[in-house]
Amino acid sequence: MEGGLIVLAAALLLFLSPEVQGTAHLSFSNNTQVNITRDGCGVSKLCVETPKNCDPSGNSPCLFVSAVSSDPMPPNGVDLSVELSGESAGYIALGLTANASEGTSMLFICAQNSSQNGTFFFRTMQRNNTDDMLTPTERRVKEIRGMVKGNMIKCEFTVPNVNASNTRSTEATTFSVLLGNGSFDGSALGLFNVLLKSKRLDLTKPESNVPTTAAPTTMPNNSGALQPHAVLLLLSVLTLSVLLRV
Ligand SMILES: *[C@@H]1O[C@H](CO)[C@@H](O)[C@H](O)[C@H]1NC(C)=O
Ligand SMILES: *[C@@H]1O[C@H](CO)[C@@H](O)[C@H](O)[C@H]1NC(C)=O
Ligand SMILES: *[C@@H]1O[C@H](CO)[C@@H](O)[C@H](O)[C@H]1NC(C)=O
Ligand SMILES: *[C@@H]1O[C@H](CO)[C@@H](O)[C@H](O)[C@H]1NC(C)=O
Ligand SMILES: *[C@@H]1O[C@H](CO)[C@@H](O)[C@H](O)[C@H]1NC(C)=O
Ligand SMILES: *[C@@H]1O[C@H](CO)[C@@H](O)[C@H](O)[C@H]1NC(C)=O
Ligand SMILES: *[C@@H]1O[C@H](CO)[C@@H](O)[C@H](O)[C@H]1NC(C)=O
Repeated sequence: MEGGLIVLAAALLLFLSPEVQGTAHLSFSNNTQVNITRDGCGVSKLCVETPKNCDPSGNSPCLFVSAVSSDPMPPNGVDLSVELSGESAGYIALGLTANASEGTSMLFICAQNSSQNGTFFFRTMQRNNTDDMLTPTERRVKEIRGMVKGNMIKCEFTVPNVNASNTRSTEATTFSVLLGNGSFDGSALGLFNVLLKSKRLDLTKPESNVPTTAAPTTMPNNSGALQPHAVLLLLSVLTLSVLLRV
């Protein structure tokens, strides 16, 4: 009971905090301008998107997330400033997980309530990576801004104290990034459809999702010319062994 009260108190604080502008229970005007571009991708911010290299400020469909982190401060981890953009009649979401095939993902959901003229709302959920079930979580998120225009949803928010150790990983800020969408029927969020699952990325390094093209040139040449597929296979074996060592 006491635990329940604390959770309730935390929830109330969240709703009352001026930093939190949007939750399922607070809707606000759609006049907020949220501009999300590729400026700085790979240099000052980490970008993950689908389709590859798509432009969130362009006219074609693009599900895009960028992240900028503060300097790590153990034991608290980093503050992560996120931009998320995409189209959905329901919600788009960012998932962070240590391993997309086990444990849980933290989901950060930006959504529109079509039964209320598409008003924006924000919610965090925990997703069980094994059975896909979503359960509400009280993760603190601040500086939430969002807008909805037709099916276009754009939002920004900051997640304090991100530390993957909480989701069972050896590296504190290394996550697999999930991008996806889901439905919202006016009261319940539908299951999270994963549309993109990244490799494990260090969120503190903007360049960690820039493809490395240098690798094949460092390969020894003593076995003659390697067929392209052999190079790919070798690379994936290398990647796998790196993954397995973590
Ligand atoms: C977003 O872009 C629009 C049009 O380019 C501009 O008028 C507006 O000031 C920008 N808003 C912010 C918060 O940068
Ligand atoms: C993450 O949390 C663990 C234990 O909770 C702590 O030992 C570690 O220093 C934290 N990492 C960062 C980067 O704060
Ligand atoms: C999610 O994305 C897929 C692929 O783009 C699309 O077919 C589907 O309608 C979307 N679902 C929602 C609820 O936005
Ligand atoms: C929804 O939009 C319609 C037309 O734009 C308007 O007449 C109606 O009052 C709006 N409803 C709410 C709940 O904002
Ligand atoms: C996730 O779901 C599986 C299968 O229902 C269950 O065994 C497991 O305990 C759940 N994990 C968490 C963290 O809830
Ligand atoms: C690599 O091997 C190819 C074919 O055996 C040869 O033509 C080429 O000169 C070699 N390159 C280097 C850098 O040794
Ligand atoms: C992720 O989880 C799966 C299933 O439990 C496991 O086989 C795999 O080794 C894990 N991957 C990493 C990088 O920990």
